[in-house]
Amino acid sequence: SERDSLYIVSDFASKHYQQLLHSHEEGAIGQSYLKERGLSNNTIKKFELGYSLDAWSDLTDAALKAGYKQKYLEATGLTIAKEDGKKYDRFRGRVMFPIHNISGRVIGFGARTLKSNDKKSPKYLNSPESEIYHKSNVLYGMYQARQAIRMQDNCYMVEGYLDVLSLHQGGIENVVASSGTSLTEGQIKLIARYTQNITVLYDGDAAGIKASLRGIDLILENGLNVNVVTFPPGEDPDSYIHKVGDEKFKAYVAKHAQDFISFKTSLYAEESKGNPVKKAEAIREIVTSISKIPDPIKRSVFFQSCSLIFDIDEQLLISEYNKMHLQER
Ligand code: CTP
Ligand code: MN
Ligand code: MN
Ligand code: MN
Ligand code: MN
Repeated sequence: SERDSLYIVSDFASKHYQQLLHSHEEGAIGQSYLKERGLSNNTIKKFELGYSLDAWSDLTDAALKAGYKQKYLEATGLTIAKEDGKKYDRFRGRVMFPIHNISGRVIGFGARTLKSNDKKSPKYLNSPESEIYHKSNVLYGMYQARQAIRMQDNCYMVEGYLDVLSLHQGGIENVVASSGTSLTEGQIKLIARYTQNITVLYDGDAAGIKASLRGIDLILENGLNVNVVTFPPGEDPDSYIHKVGDEKFKAYVAKHAQDFISFKTSLYAEESKGNPVKKAEAIREIVTSISKIPDPIKRSVFFQSCSLIFDIDEQLLISEYNKMHLQER
């Protein structure tokens, strides 16, 4: 079928990129980039990383020569055909991160430029949606992480490809990324097949905090439990694990994992100190998150905890919740 053809051509591409990384002379640039990023051969092999040549149509030419059809190369986004009929490769001169589905088949790619600050081309390029690659239902690293997620009964959510690879290499194997999209309901439902617990480890910047806040409510709405770990400004899980080392990183995560109420409380604590208006806003923010929890017993536990933290009558919180709920209908 058409789907099978897309799987097969994606697998060809992944093997081609791996071959280039390991055996082509230009692949040495990719190898040394990955080494600089702290990745071992073991990790590179386990995640099937590759390299695309800095040439117009290396992959397309090789695939056509091997008998793959151009329409499938185009349908996976590996080949781009211009109006004048000229064909070129989407991914050129980049380190390649194949994205696997849950059964381990390659369905798409993320690709990083080796240039550290080239404003002309984006840092990452990703495969477009296709019949086999539906971004909103895919998590990078899930194929390699799923057993560990079940064993640990927890899933770490990070932002990027390198975060997944560095944590996995450091011994934290229950880690996935929603690379290239913001977290979706489909991705949460995928995690829910293995665990009810998600720990969000987003970048220590404004974008990361904003994404965490959005992620928290979506996770709660889907009935899962969520904890959050924040990193110092400018650090992401990948940079931080390399800065402090594997063991200190694990200790940091254990020490700084907080439930969503403490996370939101500490986020708003500074500005709400001695400012009743701000404090009220913070409480309302938290009640909004609590109101997303479908299970009434869990909801009640979090109302109690919020009432303790803010020293405010629990019944007041609940009546605030009821008001919100009525407005929704
Ligand atoms: N991303 C993307 N396109 C971009 C930038 C980012 O798809 N132009 C996605 C990638 O999946 C990336 C993730 O968003 O891994 C997080 O972005 P960012 O934090 O900027 O990148 P890092 O993963 O930290 O990349 P690196 O460490 O290689 O700089
Ligand atoms: Mn490392
Ligand atoms: Mn970032
Ligand atoms: Mn990052
Ligand atoms: Mn990074």
